[in-house]
This record gives sequence, C-alpha cells and structure tokens, in this order.
Amino acid sequence: MRKLYVAMVGLPGRGKSTMARRIRDGLLSEGISARIFNNGDVRRQLLGAESTEPDFYNPDNSFGREARELICRRNLENAQDWLREGGEVAILDATNASRTRRKFIENTLRDHPVLFVECVNEDPLLLNACIRRKADLPEYAQYSKEDALASFMKRISYYETIYDHLGEEKYWMCVDSTANRVLDEKPCESSPYYAAIREIVVSMWVKNLYLARHGQTEFNIQGRIGGDPPLTSKGRAQAQALARHMQSVPIDWVFTSTRMRSHETAAPLLESHPHAHVMALREFDEIWAGDCENMLYSEIREKMPEVTAGRNANKYSYMYPNGESYAILQERVRRGLRRALFLAGDSPLIIVGHQAINRVLLSLFLRQRTEDVPYIHIPQNQYFHIEMTPSRKLFERIPYESGPTRPLDTALKDPQIYS
Ligand code: F6P
Repeated sequence: MRKLYVAMVGLPGRGKSTMARRIRDGLLSEGISARIFNNGDVRRQLLGAESTEPDFYNPDNSFGREARELICRRNLENAQDWLREGGEVAILDATNASRTRRKFIENTLRDHPVLFVECVNEDPLLLNACIRRKADLPEYAQYSKEDALASFMKRISYYETIYDHLGEEKYWMCVDSTANRVLDEKPCESSPYYAAIREIVVSMWVKNLYLARHGQTEFNIQGRIGGDPPLTSKGRAQAQALARHMQSVPIDWVFTSTRMRSHETAAPLLESHPHAHVMALREFDEIWAGDCENMLYSEIREKMPEVTAGRNANKYSYMYPNGESYAILQERVRRGLRRALFLAGDSPLIIVGHQAINRVLLSLFLRQRTEDVPYIHIPQNQYFHIEMTPSRKLFERIPYESGPTRPLDTALKDPQIYS
C-alpha cells in the first residue's frame, strides 16, 4: 500500500483548513483513510495563550521560532506514526510558509512522498472578511475586537516576511481556493492519490446551500420591474413563514443583495438564527434593467416595443438599454456565489435573492440550456436546498406554508455592504 503526506501551504485566511478538510472528506468518501494533523491544535495544547501574541511569530524571536519548530516536528512525528499504524494519507495543516520549513519537511518525511498544496486567495473582500472572522476565535476571547484584529494582522505580516511560493519542492499544486482552480502544478505521478486529490480540489463543494427568493412586493403585484420596493404584508408573512420553516435548520451565513426586499425577507431568519453571519453582496442585486428600471412590463410593451421584441427573440442574451442581460448577469452571480461559498466554507448558508438572480444561481448547478435559464420558475413560497460534493449531489425544492402576519419586531442586523 502506497502512502502520501499532503502538506498545506499558505498565509492565514487563504482557505487552507477548508481545503484540508475537503481533501480528507473526499478521500474518506472513496474509502481512503485520511487524517488532518494541525499545527495550531498542537500549539494551543502546548503553549495556550502565550502563542497568541504576535511577537511569537516574529522570525527574530528565537523562543517563538524554536517553539514553532518543535510544534512542527511533533506534528510530523504524529503523522508518521499514524501512517505506520495503517493510515494512508496524512494531511499537515499549517502555513508552512518558508522554503526552509518545507525543505525540513521533505528531509524529515523520507518514508513516503510529500505533496505540497498551496492555497492562494487574492480577493481583498474575502481576505478582509476572513481576517475579521479570525478575531472571533476562542484564542482571542480576552481581546477587544480591534486588538484581536491588530494582533492577527501583525501575525500575518510576520508570516509575509518569510513567505515563499511553491516552486522548488518535489511535488506540488498551487490552487486558487476561491475558484476551485489549479493555477500550476508539479504532479506526483508516483502517488495513486494524486488524481483523486486534484479532482477534490477542482470540484465545486456545496454543503447545504439554501436559496430563497424575497417575499412579495407591491412591484410584483403591479408587474413593475427592478427598483427598491419594500415587502407587502403578504411578503412579510412569507418571510416569517420562511424563518419559521427553517427554525430548526442550521444556518451559519445569510447572504442578501443590497436591496430592501432581500433584507426584509432575511430579517426574521436572522431573528431565529441570531448567531448567523450576515453579508449583503451587490453581486446578488436583481438584473439591472437600465432605462426600463421601475417600469411596468405593459408600459415597456407599449413605449419600448423593441425591448419586448428583443427579449422575446433571445431573452438570455438581450441587454436592456443601459442595463444588463442574463448573459452578463451570469458573471457577477458566479463571482457572488464563489465569494459566498468561500466565506461559508463548509457551513450551511442561505442566499436570499431575486427572480433573475436565483435563475442564474440555479443554472450554475442544473446545467440548464442557456435559452431556458430566463424562464426557470422561481416561486416566492418555496426555497431550494442544494448539496454538491464529489460524492453527493442533492437538489430539492421545498415549499413552506405561509402563516399569519406578525410585525417585523427586530430590525435586520445592519449588513455590511460589499461591492
Ligand atoms: O418582476 C420581478 C423581477 O425580479 C424584476 O425586478 C426583474 O427585472 C425580473 O423579475 C426578472 O425576470 P424577467 O427576466 O423574467 O423579467
């Protein structure tokens, strides 16, 4: 039986731990025994709070340097023992930032090949959000939010001074962890697991994505498009019903558009899931109808017949004057989905979107023909549940009952708006 070490590489906030878990879970689902060995866990066990201070990561601090080498050695020994006892793929989750550290790993682990997997994330929005989340970790419990952030930023800046990209190592893969793309690689042909790991890395991983449309608005009743209308009382009842229906469903992230109807639909959900993170992404704003924004479909038919004719001829590609087409929308929706999935990691998330947005989101999973995408039925009293990993595909449409209206007594937590 051939075995493999996978050593993660990357600065904090680059998605290494999520990727390490996916590699482990993907391999396990194929019957390959895989386990994660995390340097941070060993560090916290051995040193506790002392190792949270940024100076611990200063390359000029000999105590910190030696302690981190010791932690690394301990973790390598644990991984080696486990492979000796019958494990097949040991995943070393740590920054492994410098070439020297990686040489040390290659020289120490001579019994089986070492594949380095570097995670890259150059999206400033995601980096910022990831770093903010780190400040919520238990090891920063004694810090104020600002101090925790400053401390973590300092830690990153120390890592940056010693960081080298992969290139000289024997086997490696560099991955854009926000887009499931291999950017460059030096394959490890000698390992029977290389192809399986590569497949896991490039696959879309969606664990419990819920997709809802905002509740009814006055514009919906009138047949008016775009704009920023609030929910009607029926729409608010739908939002309440959605929250009631999802009360016992775990949700860690709630993504909305920047529009009022999306916020108002999410508000009761946030009451029932008070620990969920909330984020408004412009990528999920409804298709921009340009000169036709706020107009009735009937008005457009009368005053701008060329728009109706253009849409009837090819609704997917037709671009509203000074506005968007579904084809254009797809790009930003794809970016929004990538961002949402990266931030949620493998935690359950819901996107409270709009008619066209949800059509495009669904089409990214359903492989619809493009000409059918603008006609996908997106009801306001049902939501979709999607799971997609290399070993499991699930797609269900779930109706939720509408109940009696209850006033929205808690305002939506102010979502940060990102562009
Ligand atoms: O009618 C509601 C709405 O969300 C509009 O704001 C938007 O322009 C429209 O749906 C998108 O659907 P269609 O492309 O079918 O007009």
